Amino acid sequence: MRGSTLAAAGEVVELMLEVPQGQVLRYDMPALCSALGVPPDRLTVETDGLRRAIVTIYPSNPLTQVRAVTREDLAMDRHGRIIVGVYHNGRPVRRRLYDPSTGSAQRFLLFGTTGAGKSKALQLQLIAEKINGICSWLGDLKFGQSVPEAKDQVDFHVHTPEGAILMLRSGVAVAHERMRRYSAAGRNSFALGLDPLFHIHLDEINRLLEAGAPYRDEGAYLVKELGRTGRSVGVGAGLAAQAAHLEELGGSDTLRGMFKEGEVTLLRWSASMMRQLVSDGLLPDGAQLMPIPKVLRTVTLRSQFDPDLDEDDDDAPGTQGMGYVLSGPHPTSLMRHFRVGSIAPVAGLDPEILELYGPEEPVHLEEASWKAAGPAYAARHDPEVMAALCQELQEEKEKESKKVIPVGSGRQGAVLLQDRVWTALISAEEPMTADEVREAVLADGGKKVSLGGVRTTLGALVDAGHAIRSAHGLYAPAQ
Ligand SMILES: Nc1ncnc2c1ncn2[C@@H]1O[C@H](COP(=O)(O)OP(=O)(O)OP(=O)(O)O)[C@@H](O)[C@H]1O
Ligand SMILES: [Mg+2]
Repeated sequence: MRGSTLAAAGEVVELMLEVPQGQVLRYDMPALCSALGVPPDRLTVETDGLRRAIVTIYPSNPLTQVRAVTREDLAMDRHGRIIVGVYHNGRPVRRRLYDPSTGSAQRFLLFGTTGAGKSKALQLQLIAEKINGICSWLGDLKFGQSVPEAKDQVDFHVHTPEGAILMLRSGVAVAHERMRRYSAAGRNSFALGLDPLFHIHLDEINRLLEAGAPYRDEGAYLVKELGRTGRSVGVGAGLAAQAAHLEELGGSDTLRGMFKEGEVTLLRWSASMMRQLVSDGLLPDGAQLMPIPKVLRTVTLRSQFDPDLDEDDDDAPGTQGMGYVLSGPHPTSLMRHFRVGSIAPVAGLDPEILELYGPEEPVHLEEASWKAAGPAYAARHDPEVMAALCQELQEEKEKESKKVIPVGSGRQGAVLLQDRVWTALISAEEPMTADEVREAVLADGGKKVSLGGVRTTLGALVDAGHAIRSAHGLYAPAQ
């Protein structure tokens, strides 16, 4: 019997597939859906990366309804994991907050387009951190509007780009201080029970790291430094972002390293981003993620002569909170985060969320690191001093930016290679390879240039945020 017929009868169908030894299983999701007569949101494929796959067909999307999270879900197990949601087959989705076997702090990445459920997933994580005695700092870069309940539930809260930079500087200083202290004490790793685990989270990190953002370079440097130094001293980092390309998040390879080692969750995202993840080796070759639509609606083709043309599909269930935990054991298995608080908007803070946080004080940073954390940390509960520190940083940045030669300011007599490359990029209608850029530069009749020189200049333009580099080595001006 066809899978779709069984599924239509209300049953879940599981097909175990295997290709002969020596072959690698490959599949084409749309072709498979078409062959089985099932829409993509009711079909999942999980493979072992080699020969075997389980194809599951559901009578309706199994994740349309998920229950609310509880404090029990969020208590760490002996492996340092919490339960954040469910997979399509009802199994729990675990996220590691800490690795007790190595003493390693974790990095967390949450990616999704607007409204995909990033902030709710972050809220869930912050609740878990409070429950588990982790010291959390939060930069809520949408003016504090994304995770409002967290404000008094974390040790340090900021909501502006300046605040985020001050917070990151403090965090890096704390990581360095812990390194000094631990090495003086002869400790080469972190263990729970002495200093608290300490996590810095930034929601909407794209606002800090996108091309043209004023603190992009320093932000990217600090995030990278946290990732590099924090792991062995109990300092973790979490980023939530939306962006069309990884390059938009700080240029070069700021997040690539974190991506390879972190706890990565991909919520609803564009197909091009998915492709980029595969081409960057962040997903196993051949693995496919069913793109998550905004709402679960079966497209019904209707003739214009059909009298029922004006059907109302506002009731189609949404997919917020659905995603793939790329770093988990089932990266291609659709999951959904538990519901956190009310779905309908509430006026003011959500009491259900406050209750999950619990009434106790949030965990604070250890006293031995307060000095290293510096004036911003000391002033965190004093809005006036904090505003003055932010103002100081803004002025510092303005002075610095005046020193930089803007693109397009070719000095008289000597046209800079940077300007020639830039002109080539903005004159092209489509993104170009480095070779094409060189050809265009040579065609301007100026001095001969090498491909190496063009590449270096393109790299500098990307790092300065003027241009972007796509997955396939194509360059385009940043917008
Ligand atoms: N797991 C979930 N189950 C049900 N609804 C959810 C879930 N996660 C998020 N939502 C709902 O989806 C909406 C958007 O969620 P959220 O604000 O977390 O998204 P976001 O990705 O942070 O969006 P933005 O880009 O606007 O910041 C909210 O109304 C929220 O209640
Ligand atoms: Mg958000």
